[in-house]
Amino acid sequence: MSKLEDRISLDADWDALTPASLFVGWDHLEWWVGNARQAAGFLAGCFGFRITAYSGPETGRTDGTCSYVVEQGDVRFVLTGALGPHSPVATCVRAHGDGVRDVAITVTDARAAYEAAVERGASGLRSPWVEEDEHGALVRATVAVYGDTQHTFVERAAYHGVFAPGFSADNLPPVTQGPPVGITRIDHVVANVEKGALPSWVGFYRRVFGMEQLVHFDDEQISTEHSALMSTVVWDGSKIVLPINEPADGLRKSQIEEYLDSYGAPGVQHIAMHTDDIVATVSALRDRGVRFLRVPDAYYDDVRVRLADLHLPWDELARLGVLVDRDEDGYLLQLFTETVTDRPTVFFEVIQREGARGFGAGNFKALFEAIEREQERRGNL
Ligand code: FE2
Repeated sequence: MSKLEDRISLDADWDALTPASLFVGWDHLEWWVGNARQAAGFLAGCFGFRITAYSGPETGRTDGTCSYVVEQGDVRFVLTGALGPHSPVATCVRAHGDGVRDVAITVTDARAAYEAAVERGASGLRSPWVEEDEHGALVRATVAVYGDTQHTFVERAAYHGVFAPGFSADNLPPVTQGPPVGITRIDHVVANVEKGALPSWVGFYRRVFGMEQLVHFDDEQISTEHSALMSTVVWDGSKIVLPINEPADGLRKSQIEEYLDSYGAPGVQHIAMHTDDIVATVSALRDRGVRFLRVPDAYYDDVRVRLADLHLPWDELARLGVLVDRDEDGYLLQLFTETVTDRPTVFFEVIQREGARGFGAGNFKALFEAIEREQERRGNL
């Protein structure tokens, strides 16, 4: 871990400007995929996203890729695919399969965020650049993080077009109709990193980005009979919440190791999306064909007793497979999809927070046992 530690300047003036002090919120997640049009269609059909913009040769793009933008509530994904074998997108997809390339963050000043990040030890991938069209100017800059993942700082206050210059809202593909899903925003984006790498990445986000540690779960708290992991959550004090997992020693292969083997690198494991009504959201997603992890019926026998004072529609939650947990601030309802990629790597979480700021620690055991049943079916446990 010394390499990363070396990059992080220990001499920086920690009272100076931090990137996190310029964060406004999630801008978008860019996925690099084998077939962007089909990935956009999947998110539209199964998850109820709207396809809102496209960029490709037809709109004047010349870098050998095309992108679809899909949106729901404040969640925005960009699906990018290669138009030929020599594109970096094709190389990346060959190595990792489909996955999240860029966790982009809206900032008030992209140049200042980039300069602060690099001065504090981040590797710059692309220095600030400006793109303009008749709708205004967009400023972006990109730094590297775990694996082939990156963060782009996006300054869009002076841009009023669809997504970015070069994107068009004309002539978009039609999408399947279905019940409204009601996802409102990204709640958190989780990374898996190699064993032993967790402390240095937590250090990176604290010292380079100026974020804070929200909570840490050790392998005692996150273990099953077979396997274990550790997790630390860093956040900017408001919207940008980034849990980071690493595998811990267990009797058998942990789900994090399966991810690392399959993706071939650290990367984004799951994206949690918030809803104000998880029963309606999960019902709609199930109707649209989304498959979720199932916990055994015994989970509900236990949780109804453990959380008996919460007045919840227990039968409905059990029918839909929604998990319940509480912390000192309130409770939360959550549910996890199966992996949405061919390789067992990326999945979604749907979460409804009623005060609780936690991550469902009370559900970890039941949840990870459900994941391990899936691992076993793949022969990876
Ligand atoms: Fe999560």
